[in-house]
Amino acid sequence: MAEFPLKHVYEAQQFDRNLLDTVFQVANDMKQDMADGGKRYGRALNNKIMASLFYEPSTRTRFSFEAAMLRLGGNIITTENAREFSSAAKGESLYDSTRIMNGYADIIVMRHHEAGSAEKAARVSTVPVINAGDGAGQHPTQALLDLFTIKDHFSEISNLKVAMVGDLKYGRTVRSLSYLLTKYSGIKIFYVSPPVCRMESDIKDYLVKEGVPWVEETDLDAVLPQVDCVYMTRIQRERFIVPGDYDEAAGKYILTIEKVRRMKPETIIMHPLPRLDEISQEVDDDPRAYYFEQARNGLYIRMALLYLLLTAG
Ligand code: CP
Repeated sequence: MAEFPLKHVYEAQQFDRNLLDTVFQVANDMKQDMADGGKRYGRALNNKIMASLFYEPSTRTRFSFEAAMLRLGGNIITTENAREFSSAAKGESLYDSTRIMNGYADIIVMRHHEAGSAEKAARVSTVPVINAGDGAGQHPTQALLDLFTIKDHFSEISNLKVAMVGDLKYGRTVRSLSYLLTKYSGIKIFYVSPPVCRMESDIKDYLVKEGVPWVEETDLDAVLPQVDCVYMTRIQRERFIVPGDYDEAAGKYILTIEKVRRMKPETIIMHPLPRLDEISQEVDDDPRAYYFEQARNGLYIRMALLYLLLTAG
């Protein structure tokens, strides 16, 4: 039985190298076991119930968590739009909703529109809470699956050059991924964004403190041939506050097949998805396109997290 000291997962900073190695090992076991028809883990969470409480839209995160729970023999209770279909619509507080769900479920997977909400829920919850994305805060399980995908391709994460491109100001996935990359040596990060959506200073300060070099760029073409991993993100219209900023940022970085041809042959293209126009569909057939595999890896990482939170410790 793997050791897993965390009771909740609400931010990437909770993970050190040992914990990352544990999660990746168990995720690999899950992947292998699924290929074997679930002989080892197919009933591991029998009689356990996962509540998925999503106050914001989701395709990958909600469905992969729910598929993960079902693949492990557990059950799910779910609302696809908690803002409208839970008592949040009547004004119920997150505190009350969390206390109530504690009576019904063994684990809560929560996506919320406010940064910090998962940690708030975790503080009062008697069952594990997993942050499935909290506003422009963090998306730690996405960062875990991102790193798992990078490790799967390169074997080693150390000494890689990673470009994060697009909406870095409001992008919770790039924030969580930046935190996790500091756990590896020799990493260099290129933040490529329009000026209106640059990475926030808390992350840049953290990288400096951890001794991880980073640069800010606006010219994607200059960065593409230099890096091992190109992590594209969507410009998130729904998060922009200042009128006009979205139009200034949208459509600036579009990865076309011509641009991909300028990348190194071993570089991988990632995206947390959903995408709009930032990766042309013609890129999907290039062997460097990893975003669909990346999304599939979310299933194994989330199986590992559910299993570890509900059985270890
Ligand atoms: N990557 C991600 O969080 O996708 P969803 O919004 O579809 O869950």
